[in-house]
Amino acid sequence: MSIPTVKLNSGPDMPVVGYGTWPLQGRPATDAMLAAIASGYRLLDTAAAYGNEDAVGAAVRESGLPRAELFVTTKLRGSDQGRGSTRAALEASLERLGLDYVDLYLIHWPLPRVARYVESYAEMADLHREGLIRSLGVSNFLPEHIDAVVAETGIVPAVDQLQVSPSHARPDLVAAVQAKGTVVQAWSPLERNTGVLEHSGIAAVAERLGVTPAQVVLRWLLQRDLTVVPHSGSPERQRTNADLFGFELTPADLAAFDEVPQSPVKQDPATWEEF
Ligand SMILES: NC(=O)c1ccc[n+]([C@@H]2O[C@H](COP(=O)([O-])OP(=O)(O)OC[C@H]3O[C@@H](n4cnc5c(N)ncnc54)[C@H](OP(=O)(O)O)[C@@H]3O)[C@@H](O)[C@H]2O)c1
Repeated sequence: MSIPTVKLNSGPDMPVVGYGTWPLQGRPATDAMLAAIASGYRLLDTAAAYGNEDAVGAAVRESGLPRAELFVTTKLRGSDQGRGSTRAALEASLERLGLDYVDLYLIHWPLPRVARYVESYAEMADLHREGLIRSLGVSNFLPEHIDAVVAETGIVPAVDQLQVSPSHARPDLVAAVQAKGTVVQAWSPLERNTGVLEHSGIAAVAERLGVTPAQVVLRWLLQRDLTVVPHSGSPERQRTNADLFGFELTPADLAAFDEVPQSPVKQDPATWEEF
């Protein structure tokens, strides 16, 4: 299975479907990632805060693939934001990964009250120039946070990883971020299987197309020009979650999502703090 890519504003191509590695750790994490790679995934999404960068590095090495064929994303945790500490945090991530560069480095949360995300991004720009980061990105950034880092550095983030899913469709936020030339990558796209996959409208579309409800949800996100990083520990669900390119949702299929009740995100980037 070959997963298409999207060209980032920074130049490199990024797979439109990646493998979310949270919450796996240790050997089970590496085994799950190797299964994902075997079924066609080339993007591994990790974070310093997940405690599994070592397992990601092991999967990269054990896959036997050339490094250039894999796309590794990791993230700067809140406690490491700031001038000086951002560089040290990336170097520590690279050490745990056993890699000499990451394809994409994201600021995990903006933490506006702490007010260090702009200086962190400026330091990431230095690390980008030095070749340790191929593309600069952010996560959970609202448009005003993106504007602040662009004003400081002139570099538009290649990616903003945001919580987007059927119950949190966030059309205005997605459109505003996409209008900046930033690719939106949806996290928790399946809402951690907490119910939305049983929604009758989504289930009916899945039934009609002969695919799973998860495939319908992920395809809906792709047709909105988002990219996705679903997680599954199961090789079979990993495979179907990436098998999204042999069918298309019609306007009537897409309209099923208009019936999904919307709820505000619990982790509002304007106030959410995690370190
Ligand atoms: N930037 C951020 O702040 C942030 C925050 C959260 C997550 N993330 C990233 O986003 C990734 C994905 O998010 P997530 O792991 O929170 O949630 P998710 O991908 O929406 O859901 C994962 C859950 O759904 C189940 N699942 C997967 N495929 C399924 C299918 N086809 N049918 C039914 N159930 C299925 C999985 O169970 P099984 O394992 O049993 O299949 C797992 O429990 C994470 O792994 C992480 O890399 C980023």
